[in-house]
Amino acid sequence: MRFACAVLLLSSVAWAAERPGLAPLTGYPAHPADNPGTPEKIELGEMLFFETMLSRGGRRSCGTCHKPALLFMDGLSRAWGLHDMELRRKTPGLLNVGWQRSMFSDGRVKTLEEQAPKPLENNLEMDLEPEVAAERVANDPLYQKLFARVFPGQSITFDLIAKAIAAYERTLVSYDSDFDRYLLGDHTALKPEAVRGMDLFAGKAGCVGCHNGPLLTDHQFHYTGVPEIPGGTPNGTKHKTQGLRDVNRRSSYMHNGHYLKLRHVIDHYARGGAAPDGLKPEIEPLELSGQDKSDLMAFLRSLNGRVINSVTDSPGTPDIFDVKPEEKANTPAAAQDPSYVNK
Ligand code: HEC
Ligand code: HEC
Repeated sequence: MRFACAVLLLSSVAWAAERPGLAPLTGYPAHPADNPGTPEKIELGEMLFFETMLSRGGRRSCGTCHKPALLFMDGLSRAWGLHDMELRRKTPGLLNVGWQRSMFSDGRVKTLEEQAPKPLENNLEMDLEPEVAAERVANDPLYQKLFARVFPGQSITFDLIAKAIAAYERTLVSYDSDFDRYLLGDHTALKPEAVRGMDLFAGKAGCVGCHNGPLLTDHQFHYTGVPEIPGGTPNGTKHKTQGLRDVNRRSSYMHNGHYLKLRHVIDHYARGGAAPDGLKPEIEPLELSGQDKSDLMAFLRSLNGRVINSVTDSPGTPDIFDVKPEEKANTPAAAQDPSYVNK
C-alpha cells in the first residue's frame, strides 16, 4: 500500500512537471500573524460583510455586489453603483482572494485589510465615512457583545471591522477542479479536448506566460489591448492578470466587463487584442483553428472548482453555484447594455 502511494505521488509530480507553469491549488490561504483567523472573528466578519449599516442609506453591504450565490460577483457586466448608475468596472468574484498579492485591477492596495474601507469611501459604492460606520456598529448592542468576544478590551474602530471582514474573505476558496485532480495524478479527470486545450494554453498560445501558478495568474500588470469604455482608464493602461479559476462562471470578462462570453475573450486573444490604432498590446495574434478554440474553452471549463467556505463547510462538501444565463440577463445593466442582445 505504501509502495502504491509512493508510485502515485511520483507519477503525479512527474505529470505536473511536464507542464511548467501550471500547478494545482491545495489548502487554504494563510491568515497574517497580525490578524489570526479565529472562528469567532470569521463569523463576525461574515456578519459585517452583509451589514447594510456600513452604507450611507443603510441599504447596501459588501454582499449587495459580491453575492455568494453568484460566486461573489453580481451577475452584471459592470457593477451597479448608488444613484442607479453603472460603474466602470465589473465586480470581481472573491473566491481565492486570500491568495492575491494586490487588490483591484490596478493593484492600488495590497491587503484585504487595507481594501475593506475603500468601498465605503467611494461615493458611488457605499458612500459612508468608515469612522461613521464604526460608530454605528459600536452603538449596536449585539455587535458590542461580539466584538468584546473577538477583540477583548479594544474599542470598536473601522480597523477592527476591516480585520474581521478580511478574515472572513480568506475563507472563501474554490479548488478541487478537474484540472487540479488531473495535475495531482488522476489522468481520467480531464477529457482529451481539455488536455489538448491545456497543451495549447501552456504551449503555442502562450497563455501560461501570464496565467501561471495555482491561481493561473502571475500577479503582474499587463496591457492586453482591451478597449476602454468612456470615462475609464486611458487605453493602454496595464491591468492585473486575472486568475482563471471558475472563469467560465463569470458574467463578464476583463476589468471593465468588455466581453460577456468566454469565447469572445478567446477571439480577442486570437486577433492579438482589440487595441486602438497606434497602441501595441503585450500579446501577438495567434493562429487558432475552430478546434483549437473549442479545446481552449474545454480547458478553461475544467478550472471550475468546488466552492468551499473553509469554516462553515467541512472539506469534501460539494457546494457549487452556477450562474444561470437567465440570471445574467435579467438585470438592470443587462437591459441597458446593447451587447446583451447577441447572447
Ligand atoms: C457597488 C458594488 C460593490 C460594493 C458595494 C463592494 N464592492 Fe468590492 N468590488 C467592486 C468592484 C467594481 C471592484 C473592482 C474595482 C477595481 O478593480 O478597481 C471590487 C473589488 C473588490 C476587491 C478586490 C478583488 C480583486 O480581485 O482585486 C475586494 C477584496 C472587494 N471588492 C471586497 C469588498 C468588500 C469587503 C466590500 C464591503 C466593505 C465591497 N467589496 C463592496 C464592487 C463592489
Ligand atoms: C501578456 C500577458 C497575458 C497573456 C499572454 C494572456 N493573458 Fe489573459 N489576461 C491578462 C490580463 C492582464 C488580463 C486582465 C485584463 C483586464 O482586466 O482588462 C487577462 C484576462 C484574461 C481573461 C478574463 C478573465 C476575467 O474574468 O475577466 C481570460 C479568460 C484570459 N485572460 C485568458 C487568456 C488566454 C486563454 C490566454 C492565451 C490565449 C491569455 N489569457 C493570455 C494577461 C495575459
